[in-house]
Amino acid sequence: MLDTFLNGEYYKSDEARVSIEDRGFLFGDGIYEVVRIYNGHYFELGQHLARLERSARKTFLTLPYELSRIETICHELLQKSGIANGKLYMQITRGSAPRTHEFPLEAAPTILLKVSEVNENQLRKNKIGVTALTLPDERWNHCDIKSLNLLPNVLAKQQARSQGYYEAIFVHGQEITEGASSNVFVVLDHKLTTAPESNRILLGITRNVVIELAAEAGIPVEERFVTLEELPTASELFITSTVDEITPVLSIDGHTLNGAVAGEITGQMQTLFQQKLSMSCR
Ligand SMILES: Cc1ncc(COP(=O)(O)O)c(C=O)c1O
Repeated sequence: MLDTFLNGEYYKSDEARVSIEDRGFLFGDGIYEVVRIYNGHYFELGQHLARLERSARKTFLTLPYELSRIETICHELLQKSGIANGKLYMQITRGSAPRTHEFPLEAAPTILLKVSEVNENQLRKNKIGVTALTLPDERWNHCDIKSLNLLPNVLAKQQARSQGYYEAIFVHGQEITEGASSNVFVVLDHKLTTAPESNRILLGITRNVVIELAAEAGIPVEERFVTLEELPTASELFITSTVDEITPVLSIDGHTLNGAVAGEITGQMQTLFQQKLSMSCR
């Protein structure tokens, strides 16, 4: 099965090779995107490509092709792979060159696209609810860039998982920013509250979709940082991401929310999200 595109060629994933001098490998000098595939269609591919272009601009990385060509490759790859439900991983690095911190004068960017299936059973289970642990947000000041430098996220997620929690939720000072690989929505006073667009969070595509769906349904949304102090007054909490979609968090730091069942607004958002999916990926 041809499930991989690397620098102009299609491959079976175990036959694709990159150089040991690739700056993605040496420095994490690159950017990425993850896009869901439902029923043989990409979900919100346009928004993901726009964010890829933004991340490239913010890191002075020249995309190897026009965005429209990348989009065509996405579709060609999906067709070749035969995958109907899964995800696309897309990564672009500053290319391969002898190791120096400054940008190499001559290096062509490396572009990798890989499609794969997702564990749908696990995701279905998560939809019932998961647990989360808050941890200090020790990341850099450009969390809005979807860069390959994920070490703080990796360490936080590992700490959460090793203690039996599903997600790590970052707290900067007293403010909840986002999850290790998700955005966070808190229901406070019947309002959906989520961190505002800033350098402290990745502007999640799922977050955008949730905000849009809530507005259409007349559910108030407030974009501001929720503080740790406010958490005990939260009636519901959920995380959003391309892979996790809308996942209820039933307890945080061991404190149960809403009697450990997904709340009403969370359920409503999950239904609206499923409706949107089935409309746009028919
Ligand atoms: C740090 C972080 N925040 C938020 C998200 C959610 O973004 P999206 O909904 O675009 O997948 C992700 C996704 O992986 C992430 O890594």
